[in-house]
Order: sequence, then structure tokens, then C-alpha cells
Amino acid sequence: MSSAALIALDQILVILVAALWGCAGGYALASRKVPRLARAAAALLTGALLGTAGRVATVALLAGHGWWFAGEKVLLALPLLLPPAIAAAVVSLPRLPRVARGTAILPPAVAVLPLAACYAAVAGVLITFSVGYPIRGYLAAVLVAAVLAGTAATWRMLTRTGPPGRLWQVAGSVVALLALAWTGASLWNARPPYELRLAGGGGVDVTALRGGDGGGEVRRFTLTARPATVTLRSGRKVEALTFNGGSPGPQIRVRQGETVEVTLASELVDRGVTLHWHGYHVPNGEDGVPGVTQDAVRRGGRFVYRFTADQPGSYWYHTHETPNLGLQKGLFGAFVVDAAAPSGFDEAVLLHSFDGTPTTSVGSGGPDDGMVSRTVAPGTAVRLRVVNTDNGPHTVGVAGVPYRIGAVDGMPVEGRELTGERAQLAAGGRYDLTFTMPARPVALSTENPGTGLLLTPGSGAAPPPPSGPLIDITRYGTRGPAVPTRFDRDYTWVLDRLLVPRSGLPLPSYTVNGEVWPRIPAPVVAEGEWVRFTVVNRSGDLHPMHPHGHHVLVLSRDGVPAAPLWMDSFDVAPGEVWEVALKADNPGVWLSHCHELKHAAEGMTLHFTYEGVRSPFAVGERMANHPD
Ligand code: C2O
Ligand code: CU
Repeated sequence: MSSAALIALDQILVILVAALWGCAGGYALASRKVPRLARAAAALLTGALLGTAGRVATVALLAGHGWWFAGEKVLLALPLLLPPAIAAAVVSLPRLPRVARGTAILPPAVAVLPLAACYAAVAGVLITFSVGYPIRGYLAAVLVAAVLAGTAATWRMLTRTGPPGRLWQVAGSVVALLALAWTGASLWNARPPYELRLAGGGGVDVTALRGGDGGGEVRRFTLTARPATVTLRSGRKVEALTFNGGSPGPQIRVRQGETVEVTLASELVDRGVTLHWHGYHVPNGEDGVPGVTQDAVRRGGRFVYRFTADQPGSYWYHTHETPNLGLQKGLFGAFVVDAAAPSGFDEAVLLHSFDGTPTTSVGSGGPDDGMVSRTVAPGTAVRLRVVNTDNGPHTVGVAGVPYRIGAVDGMPVEGRELTGERAQLAAGGRYDLTFTMPARPVALSTENPGTGLLLTPGSGAAPPPPSGPLIDITRYGTRGPAVPTRFDRDYTWVLDRLLVPRSGLPLPSYTVNGEVWPRIPAPVVAEGEWVRFTVVNRSGDLHPMHPHGHHVLVLSRDGVPAAPLWMDSFDVAPGEVWEVALKADNPGVWLSHCHELKHAAEGMTLHFTYEGVRSPFAVGERMANHPD
């Protein structure tokens, strides 16, 4: 069974087991007064034992897929549950038939066992949905204490004659007060930050890590963020946030070696704005992360980004202030760096959903909610630079002609010809699709019928969309970069969906190593190192992970070695384990997050820092910097 299926099964079992132990405990208790209930108690207890055995088996299988999937279950949940469960099986279960016949009663020490198992099973639910991996010591201690205290209190109630003694009253109040104080303190600690500096120490300031002048021609652009109504080709209007009145914003297309100078201005009243160069290895001070590399640009403010375009390929830019809102409402555009003068039909194709309506924007054309059509002469070399600016994946493919994926996330790839096959493009990711225009129509399609790009030699209808299998992009390339054989540091990111304190409330959150932004501990790297990240997805959702300022070399996916390729946005599916390597060659404080920006906003955002780099900026309300 796949790890994703086992995780889902375990989540069902943990709830079922808690419910069965709860019922078994309740009926066993009641059978002390109403002996005929003992038969039901026995049946329920047997069910609870079977469920527990099922859970043990599931956890064992999960551990076989990787310790991260089962650690807290093996070390905490099962050790809490198994002793009372086994004791109930050995001691309580055999007595129940006699209780039913009226020839025995359950003494308190026996009746308490299924209830103790019930408390442990309920703790197991919390461990599954709130602790995750790795185990946080204090939470584990609280849960163990709660199970022990609950068992002791139950036993005391069963043996009690007369009112509770003074000691029990005092102990009870102390426990209640401690629990209250602990809950209050954790929620208080998880309140939204007012002013939080993420990288305080170090001798190099991110404001010193700015792009200079590479010597090439300076290409100047001005982008002004403002709200505007954007009209889709069908005539449908959307209230969007735009750069210079349009969304996508102006295409920034330059030649390799030129200096890009972009002045960002804002007329937005309700939020700030920044420009983040997605996938581009800009110097850290140009990365456009509010509260980390700059303060968000407010209405009337300005920020000038300047860097050398030394890396050719397909990229894009977008705001990083409340991006789940700002970017999704339209603050983005294409950024293409050409190694040579573009020839043939070579265009950026942006896939973006406005208020849920999928659109395609080609080159400098506006968003089209139908099929964009262009005329291309047969024999023309075609390069479609497909950019996924949405929060979720798109399935892309070309129909009517064999094609190749010529670049992934801006980096050239050499791979076989694809005929009718399709590829999943991660949120934030780019594929350059290349082919030679035939003498018949061809179409770039996604999973949204009736949208995409139709290229015709002059006339003709769109071919049916490709319906072939999905390729595995990590196995596509035939000649990849060399893979390092040793790593200077190793980090693990376990992605999960847990109930944890966030924004001052216990909320379902997207977590990394059991924590949410901005409390996820930041990996530290040093310039020149190779750093290996193992990314484990324990949740039921897809997570398109995106480290800033670097590409990562994909080493393996679920234990299967990759045909090595560089990516900056990669989809980690439920239950998957990816190993990627990062070459630390761009000093700074770098954000790294899930590009399903709703997940990023609900916790799945972290940063990693280079030794010795500090940021003078602060996230939080004071400067209204919200990079998540
Ligand atoms: Cu497009 Cu922080 O990312
Ligand atoms: Cu995610």
C-alpha cells in the first residue's frame, strides 16, 4: 500500500480505535450496575482490540515507508495505548462473561483498564492530528500526564467512598490551573507577530547584498501596482490588482548580460507590494520579500530593483506581500532572459485563474478565458514558455505534433520526444515546450477544456487535446548535471496538516516539522556548501515547494533516483519523499515555502539563512510586512 493510503487508513483507524475504547470503557463501567451490559462491553472491547491490532500493523507498514511517517506513533501513541489495552484484554475481557451471568462483578482496578485505554486512544488522536513529526517534548509530556491523571482520577472515582478528600481537591485544582496557563501561554506565543526580526545576528546586512551593474546595457522598466478592472476575452470583467493597469503585468524580456532596473511604485490603498523574481538567483537584497529583504512598498512609495540578467531562461515576477491575495488577484508577470535574439515563435504562456476562471496569456496579450489562436508558418521553431502562476498544478501537453520539454524552471533539459504525453507543471513552475511547426494545427492544452493556445498554419480546427500518460519529470532528462557525492549539511522538512496554535488560536495549519511560520526553525547554511534537503509529505495535500534564490538539484523521488535536473518549484505529492540538493552560492536570508499560497499563508513558509547574514527588516503588523 502507498504511504498516502496508509496515512489515510491510520487516520481513520486512530479515530475508530478511540471511539471503540470509549464505548468499551463506558459499557464495562456501566456493567458494574447493569450486569447484562457486560456482553456488549465484551463485544466492544474485542472490537477495540482488533482495531488496535490493525493500527499496530498500519503503523508498522508506515514505518517501513520511512520513520518520519510513524515516529510519533511508535514512540508515543502506541506505548501509551498498548499497556492498558493488553491489560484490558488479559484481565477485563475474561471477566465480562461472568459479570453478564451475574456470577462476578468488575472490581475498580479491572473496570478502569478499558477507560485508561480510551484516554490513551484519545491522546493518540491528538498525537496524530496535533503532534506529528518530530515529537515536541512538552506536548508529549502534557499528553502523557493527562492520560495518567485521567486514569488516576477515574480509579479514585471508582473506589471513592464519601466526598473527595482535600488532597484530591487541591491536586485537581492545580492540574486545572496548569492546563489553563499552558493553553493560554501557547496561544499567546502564537499570536500574529507585531514586529519580528527573523535574522538578527551576523555581520553582513541583506541591504548590502544588492545587485550592481554587470556592465551590459541597462534596461529600465516601471511597474505601478494599482487596482483595475481586467476584461477577459469573453467580455467577463474581473476586479484585479494590476501592474500598470493590466494583469499579467508588462512582460519583462531582456538579453543575457543586460542590467535589469525595475522601479516599483504603488497606488494600492489596502496593502503593500513588492517584486519577487521567482526562480531567479538575484542578490538577496533584490528578492522582494517584505520583512526579510525590504519593507513592503506602500502607497506613494518606491523601490528600485537592479540586477544583472546573467541567467537565461523562463522566469516570472510577482508581489510577495500577502501573495495569496495580491498575486492571485493579478500582481504578476513574465520575466524572460534570452541568451540570443529570439527566433521563430518564442513566447511566454502564462496560465492563471482569475476568480476561478482559467485563462491563458500569450506574450504581451491579455488574459483569454478561451483558446488563444496564433498563425505560425510551417517549419517555424516554436518555444512555448509555459508559466503556472496558479496555486495548484496544471497538466500540460501539446497535441498534433511530437514535442520536447526543452527547459524546466528556466534550466535547459535534454529529453526524449513526447507524443500525446502530458506533464504536471507545479504551481510556480515553468516548462519550455519546443517543437517545429507542422503544416497542420497544433494546440497547447491543459486539463481545462476549451482553454490553451492554438497554433495554425493559417486555418484548421484544434486537434483533440493530448490524452496520453503523465510523464515523471524527475525521470525525463537524459543527460543531467553531475550529482555531488557528499553533503556538508542535511535537513529534513516534514510537511503536514496539523491542528496547532496559529494567529493566537488552535487552527488547522500547514506545518513543517510540526511548526508554522514564523516559528519553523531556520536551516543554516554556509557559502560553498552542498546542502541536502529531504522533503517528506505526511499530509493529504500536494505541496509545490519553492526555495528562493536557488534551484535545487533533484536527487530522488520516493527512493527512485532522478535523472538529475534543476528545479525551483517541485510538487511533493501526499506520501512522497523527495531528496534535493542545494548549492549554497547566493548568500542571504531566503524564504522557502509552499507555492500553494493558501498553504503558505496557513503556516507552510520558512526561511533559511547563510551564516553571518542578518536582516534589519521585521515581519509583522508594525511595518505591515506579510511575506506569507
Ligand atoms: Cu513565487 Cu516566494 O515565490
Ligand atoms: Cu502546500
